[in-house]
Amino acid sequence: MNDTGKSTTIRDVAQYVGISVTAVSQILNGKGDRFSDETIRKVREAQRILNYHPNFYARGLVGQRSNSIGIVIPNIMNPFFASLVLSVENAAIPKGIFPQVFSVNGFHENIDYFIEQFISGTQKGLILAAPGASREIVDKLALSNNLPMVMTDQADLNGKYDMVLINELKAGEMIASHLLELGHSRIAIVLPFGLTLNLKHRFDGYKAAFKKYHVPVPLDLVFQANFDPSGGVDAVSKIITTDATAIIAINDDVAIGIYRGLASHHKNIPDDYSVVGFDDINLTNYLVPRLTTIEQPIADIGEQSVQLLVNKMNDPNVQRKSVILDVKLRIRESTKKLEM
Ligand code: RIB
Repeated sequence: MNDTGKSTTIRDVAQYVGISVTAVSQILNGKGDRFSDETIRKVREAQRILNYHPNFYARGLVGQRSNSIGIVIPNIMNPFFASLVLSVENAAIPKGIFPQVFSVNGFHENIDYFIEQFISGTQKGLILAAPGASREIVDKLALSNNLPMVMTDQADLNGKYDMVLINELKAGEMIASHLLELGHSRIAIVLPFGLTLNLKHRFDGYKAAFKKYHVPVPLDLVFQANFDPSGGVDAVSKIITTDATAIIAINDDVAIGIYRGLASHHKNIPDDYSVVGFDDINLTNYLVPRLTTIEQPIADIGEQSVQLLVNKMNDPNVQRKSVILDVKLRIRESTKKLEM
């Protein structure tokens, strides 16, 4: 918004920086190689200060959107998110829509930048599966540019957008109840540093199970670790010094590290420790013993997310929808009854 109360235009940005409109347009569309870093920095700063976001209707570009959608995920190296991307591709490509992946990885401060590319980009829709995007940017994308958008998994902006989620509370309760029903009470829990909204609900589910079985929540056995196999290995070096008889891993990736850590300490699964995971990623088929885990409906998440985007593309006024999917408990050989 400029000082006349009107929406800021690219002309305002050019005037603010003291360069041509063409130069601003090239810089904001990633074609500004010929400009100095200082000029590019000034343009980005002006864009932020003046709150400038190109509007397709003003630019007459709306009809020129490609048949592509964006999917923003936290980390492509995590097998769950790789499978999520695949499920989106399997649902989108037969409809003639091609997903473009943005993996945020460690560059969380860039997530707004990734998403802003959709304001001046050509994607027809956005599936957001990563946390940390600012509501101001997402609202501008969803509202002023009316871009179809679906929130899923770790996306932590809810309320105004289509959403496809799993029932995290119930899923967390299911997996912890399984161990409690086997007689375990001293259960270690391995969580990532900093819980995202969906993982907070999952942890709440674990705690609800302990309350349901009148077992004190073992907060002294909650360990935080990297959100990958290295975190599982590190957590085991602490868990083996406790009286835990079972271990809940926040996901299968961490559970794989727990397997490695227990093996290096000559501990047996499930005789010494029952172990459970979450996601049911393909890699768990190669674990011995096979991992008890929660199967996430990844194919359904992809299909439902793409369908909601297509519905919105076909009718911008379609009613917002929240889809909550159930999960399945897959009991395998990594858990057993506690022998007193
Ligand atoms: O493996 C990644 C985990 O975090 C999954 O359980 C998924 O739900 C994500 O939030």
